[in-house]
Amino acid sequence: MCGIVGYVGPKNAVPLLIEGLKRLEYRGYDSAGVAVRQADGALAILKRVGRLSNLEEALDATPVAGGLGIGHTRWATHGEPSEINSHPHLDGSGRIAVVHNGIIENYLALRAELEAKGHVFRSQTDTEVIPHLIEEILKGGGKSRLEAIREALRSARGAYALGIVFRDEPDALYAARCGSPLIVGVGDGEQFIASDVPAILNRVNKVIYLNDGEVAELRPAGVAVSKLDGTPAAPEIKAVTLKAEAAERAGFETFMLKEIHEQPRVLRTLLDAHVRKDGSVDLGEASALLEAQAQNAQRVLILSCGTAHYAGMYGRLLIERWADIPCETDLGSEFRYRQPRLPERTLAIAVSQSGETADTLASVRLAREMGCKVVSICNVPGSTLLRESDAALLTQAGPEIGVASTKAFTAQLMAFALLAIRLGRLRGALDEKRERELTAELARIPDYIHRVLDRQDDIRAISQKYYECFNALYLGRRFNYPIALEGALKNKEISYQHAEGYAAGEMKHGPIALINELLPVVCLCTPTADEVRDKMVSNLKEVEARKGRIVAVVAEGDESLRGLAQDVIPVPETIEELSPLVNVVALQLFAYHNAKARGADIDKPRNLAKSVTVE
Ligand code: G6P
Repeated sequence: MCGIVGYVGPKNAVPLLIEGLKRLEYRGYDSAGVAVRQADGALAILKRVGRLSNLEEALDATPVAGGLGIGHTRWATHGEPSEINSHPHLDGSGRIAVVHNGIIENYLALRAELEAKGHVFRSQTDTEVIPHLIEEILKGGGKSRLEAIREALRSARGAYALGIVFRDEPDALYAARCGSPLIVGVGDGEQFIASDVPAILNRVNKVIYLNDGEVAELRPAGVAVSKLDGTPAAPEIKAVTLKAEAAERAGFETFMLKEIHEQPRVLRTLLDAHVRKDGSVDLGEASALLEAQAQNAQRVLILSCGTAHYAGMYGRLLIERWADIPCETDLGSEFRYRQPRLPERTLAIAVSQSGETADTLASVRLAREMGCKVVSICNVPGSTLLRESDAALLTQAGPEIGVASTKAFTAQLMAFALLAIRLGRLRGALDEKRERELTAELARIPDYIHRVLDRQDDIRAISQKYYECFNALYLGRRFNYPIALEGALKNKEISYQHAEGYAAGEMKHGPIALINELLPVVCLCTPTADEVRDKMVSNLKEVEARKGRIVAVVAEGDESLRGLAQDVIPVPETIEELSPLVNVVALQLFAYHNAKARGADIDKPRNLAKSVTVE
C-alpha cells in the first residue's frame, strides 16, 4: 500500500522520483505527488489524482527541478483520493513535506492536541499530523530537525515508513520506519529511499534495510542511522543482486503476462536451489529448524492471506499426505481474532509474497507469542516477515509487479512441495525412493507449464466465448479445490467478472441454483485416474443437466469429456498432488484473456493493491 521514493544528490530529483514511482505504482495508484526543493529555495509540491501519468503530465506542463525530493503513490486509507489528501503533506508553514506509507493510529488525538495549539489541517489524512508535530517541536527551539523527527515519532502509534524534507535544508533527506517497509539506496555522492528495491534498481547497487524504530539522515556524502531514542544504529549495507530487467516488462504487453511466462524459469530456479543431484531435498537455511521440529511438532498451522492462503490450503493437503502431520490453515485476519487453541508443539508456516501483509504479520506475532516456531515462505528478501520468522524458504520468483499474483503463487506451491517432502523424509513418512520419484516429477513441471503456455492462443479463443458473461463458477476437488478458488480469484481480480470457486462436491448445496445456459462452469478434471475423478465427472453431469456451459481442464489425450464439455483445455498430465502447478497456469491465461477482452487495466485492477499493509 502506497509507494515512497526520495532522492538527495547533485542530479535533478524529478526524473528519478518518477522512475521510482513507476516501479512502485503496483503498491497503490489512486493518486501521486512529489515535493522538490528547487534551486530558488522554494519547495515545489505537485499532486494529481489518478494514475502517475497524470502527475507526469502536470510536471511536463509546470516543470520543477532540484537535487532534493520525495515522491508518493497512494492507496487511500484515510480520506478519499483527492489532491488535498494526496501526499506529500505539509506543516502549517509549508516548510516541511512528508510522504507516508502506513497508518498513524493515534492521529485523531494528536490532531486534536495540535489544533488546540492553533494548527490548521487541510486534509482528512492521518499523515498530516507528522509534519505539524515536527513543526510544533521545532517551534519550541533548541532542537535539531533530526531530534524533532525522533521526538515526533516517539508520540506516534501505528505503522509508518516516512520520507521527510525541509525547505530550509536542501542537502538532507530524512527517513524513518516502523512496521512498513523502507530501504535506503546507498550511492556515490547521492542517496535514495524507496519502499522496495525495484524502485531504485538502475541507480544503486547497495542498500540498507531500515529496521523498525530507526531514523536515517541521508546527505549526498553519506547516511547516518539512529534509533528513536537517539542512540546510533550500525546499519548493514547489503549488495543488490537483482538485475534491472527484473522490474521491466521485457516486451510483454503487461507485467502479469510476463510473470505468467516466467513461471517455468522461476520454478527451475527453486528446484535448482533445493534439489540435490541425487534427487534429495535440501532446504538450506530452513533445514536446521525443520530437523528440530519434524519429530517434535504435533501440528502444523499455515497462516496467510489472499492468493497465498490458497497456496496454504494446497500446502496443508501435501503436508498431511506426505509428512503425515495434522495440519490446519487460517487466514491471518481470522486467526488473530478467533482466540485460537493450539497444541503446545505447533509449527507455524507463514506464506506471503511480499512479507509485508499486515494480517499475516499480526497472526505470526500471535503464533510466536503462543510458543510456535515460524517458518516463512516468502518472496521478498529483507521483508518484515523474514525478519520475524525463525527460518525461511525464499521463493526466489523475483519482483512480482502485476497486482494479481501468478509466479509467486506457483513458487509457493513448489515451496510447499519441497517442504512437505523434506518433512516427510524427516518423519519417516516418505522413503528415499519415493522422495526421488517425487523430485523427478517436480523437475518435469517447468516443461509441463511451457506446454500450457504454448496453448495460449487456444485458451484465448475459449475465453472469447465467455467474456461477456456476468458470472463464472470454478469447481475442483481435493488438490484442485484451492486451484478452483485461485482461478476464480484471478478472474474476478483482473476482469471484474463475478467468479466463485467451489469444492465440486459442495456445488449441490447452493451454487447449483445459479446454473443455467448463461453460466460458464470451469472444471478442473485432471488427472484422468484418481479416486475423485469419477466424482468430478458426476458433478459435470449435474452441470450439464442444468444446461451450464462447461469449460474443462483435462489431461492431454483425455477425450472422455469432449461430449460433456463445451470447451476443453488440455494440459500435460502429472500426479494429482502436483497437478495444481500445471492447472493453475491454464486458469491464469483464461482469466488474463477474459480481462483483456473486457478492456480491463490488467496490471492495476481497480481498488486493489499489491501489498496490503493495513488490517
Ligand atoms: C493482496 C494482493 C494479493 C495477495 C495478498 C496477500 O491482496 O493483491 O495478490 O495474494 O495481498 O499478499 P502477500 O504479499 O501476503 O502474499
